[in-house]
Amino acid sequence: PTPVILDCDPGHDDVFALWLAAGTPAITLLGVTTVGGNGRLEHTTFNARVALTVAGVEGVPVAAGADKPLRRELTPATWIHGDNALGGPELPEPAVPLDERGAIELISDLLEASPEPVTLIPTGPLTNIAMLLEQRPDLRGRIKEIIWMGGSTGRGNVGAYPEFNAWVDPEAADLVFKSALPLTMVGLNISHQALITEQVIESIGAIGNETSAFGVELLRFFCSTYEAVQNMPEGPLHDPITVAIAIDRTVATVRRSHVDVETKGEFTSGATAVDLHDMLGKEPNADIAITLDVPKFWRLVREAVANLK
Ligand code: BDR
Ligand code: CA
Repeated sequence: PTPVILDCDPGHDDVFALWLAAGTPAITLLGVTTVGGNGRLEHTTFNARVALTVAGVEGVPVAAGADKPLRRELTPATWIHGDNALGGPELPEPAVPLDERGAIELISDLLEASPEPVTLIPTGPLTNIAMLLEQRPDLRGRIKEIIWMGGSTGRGNVGAYPEFNAWVDPEAADLVFKSALPLTMVGLNISHQALITEQVIESIGAIGNETSAFGVELLRFFCSTYEAVQNMPEGPLHDPITVAIAIDRTVATVRRSHVDVETKGEFTSGATAVDLHDMLGKEPNADIAITLDVPKFWRLVREAVANLK
């Protein structure tokens, strides 16, 4: 199995990324770290522990990371995820404990202990990953690759161009894109292919376990805010696409390109300028996920949920 560390800000779609990683035999989930993003750190950390508790996942350490971006203040995405970042279901008291270590320390320990290089999957702002690369450059060789949900080749979701995770901490994203580590960008251009149709919700509900019932409540809330805010009653389940790619590369096509992160633009701060057509002739620094095998993606999600509690 592929060893994975998931760095997340749950968040409805982050929860499905956690479940996909925890419920798929092809992945060993070494640890989970949290970051301020969709909600404040106390909420995203609590929610990560709730997500693992609901799914009956034990023995995976959860550690809290950065409570705000490198150089900016945090604006949580309450308009999509609600005040606690996980609106919809009633949240049980988590049985999964919080690790004493901070996120950077936990990731460092796991990278050092793993016999093989580890895949890092960030599904929130890149603050923790940027801090790790700055503080522990000696561990670069222990990272097999980074598969990130964020950015876009086109439209944004917090402005005409910027996508939320990139917009929250563009300086961190800039640092990661400049790191020269193997990097895959799962942006809005592909995540908007993973639409939560009524049929998707019903097929997840039909799994009939506790995780799926909780998941249906999450999906219904998420689609209701997407309808209210973006006029999209079938919201896009962004984050688990990253994990699906780690499981099976054929779930998405990719195109190698150069990406610059806009940190200063008057209208475009936080946008990813993806040079898909090689106008600049710069060295590519990321694989850009382009087309999703939609049935395969949902099949992977359903199979994982069915393997959980
Ligand atoms: C990203 O932002 C968050 O709202 C989601 O969890 C996802 O990671 C989509 O722009
Ligand atoms: Ca997220």
